[in-house]
Amino acid sequence: MDISLQLSIKFINELIKIVSPALVKHMERTAIVAMELCDYLDLSKEQQKNVYIAALLHDIGELIDIRTREYGDFHSNNELHQRYTYNMLNGLDIFEQTKAIVYTRRAGYEDKHQQEKAILSFCDRFEYDLRLYPENLASCSEDICNGFAERYSDYPAEFYDFLNTVSQREYFWFRLQTDNIPRVVNVISPIKVIHLDIDDFQQICTLIARIVDTHSGFTAAHSMTVGLVARELAYYSGMTSYDQQRIEIAGYLHDIGKLYVPINLLEKKSALSRKEYSMLKEHSYKTAEILSVVAELGEIAAWAANHHERLDGSGYPYHLNRIYLDIPSRIVAVADFFTALTEVRPYRGPLSIQDALDIMDKAVEDGSIDGEIVALLHQHKEAFYTIVNQAREGGRALVRDVASIP
Ligand SMILES: [Fe+2]
Ligand SMILES: [Fe+2]
Ligand SMILES: [Fe+2]
Repeated sequence: MDISLQLSIKFINELIKIVSPALVKHMERTAIVAMELCDYLDLSKEQQKNVYIAALLHDIGELIDIRTREYGDFHSNNELHQRYTYNMLNGLDIFEQTKAIVYTRRAGYEDKHQQEKAILSFCDRFEYDLRLYPENLASCSEDICNGFAERYSDYPAEFYDFLNTVSQREYFWFRLQTDNIPRVVNVISPIKVIHLDIDDFQQICTLIARIVDTHSGFTAAHSMTVGLVARELAYYSGMTSYDQQRIEIAGYLHDIGKLYVPINLLEKKSALSRKEYSMLKEHSYKTAEILSVVAELGEIAAWAANHHERLDGSGYPYHLNRIYLDIPSRIVAVADFFTALTEVRPYRGPLSIQDALDIMDKAVEDGSIDGEIVALLHQHKEAFYTIVNQAREGGRALVRDVASIP
């Protein structure tokens, strides 16, 4: 598989946009200003690439408690959110530089990313200031630049020279207009020619799983766990490591449609009305819809989107049956079913592995899920028990261990 880094980052932003368009607008505008400043300062290609990615992801930590806050306070100088962002990117090689840059509050700027951090901090604050002005920014460009310089005086002198220069350049302000932003972000991208292999793309999808999993406290590690369980099932089924990896990715992506489901519905303790249940069911249809635009995913899209389909045609949303459901789709469905049973739900506690397997055996008898795959869960019960627990602990740590970051 071959996918560009640009498309991958854009895809992440499209998903965040479902939950918070305002957050994405802030990060995109920060990136636009940052690329202009990088250009002005004549930064290396490598630095430009790092700043661009960092700007487009710098506030993803906000997603962890976005529901509890009022609209629009995406100021990255909030240290707690920087720590959350750091945690979301942590452990993913592809975001190693990004992680270092977004964490601008780390004591002193005295490290090799000093300049990128200063640029990000400056552009983040600048974007924040833009909200004080009417939508036609070009008409008040000098006021914006002067006002910013009055409020903040702690950046290198050439940053203020940059403001003087751009205050006279109309295109700069046009690019920051709401209608133009999504296109401009692509136009100015320094990462268009970078292509990812499946290992890199798997890390992109790990970040996506983390984003989806933070959406509801009840599913703190659900996508991650489904991905890992699905991979293990693929391994025991004798699949190639390439297919194992693609199935793992399908697991990470399977519930992205849940980003559309209102949080109070996901966490409702009492029985759902017919209308609410159908809203909930829409999530796997949404997964199909979102993934269908990423042609590079190939079969992975269907494997992810089919997770609520059943062999006897009793699933949803397409009511596919055993003729249409291939082994990878069946594996993701079993991994999702199994993981869900072992997780806390608003209306029940987690089931033990044995109780979960009993319920799954019943589903095998009814003809709705694949007996050979469920047999693998039985055979390797201990291994799956470990995976489920480790993944869940990892999900908790993501939110909990914010204080221990250096
Ligand atoms: Fe920010
Ligand atoms: Fe689902
Ligand atoms: Fe799921």
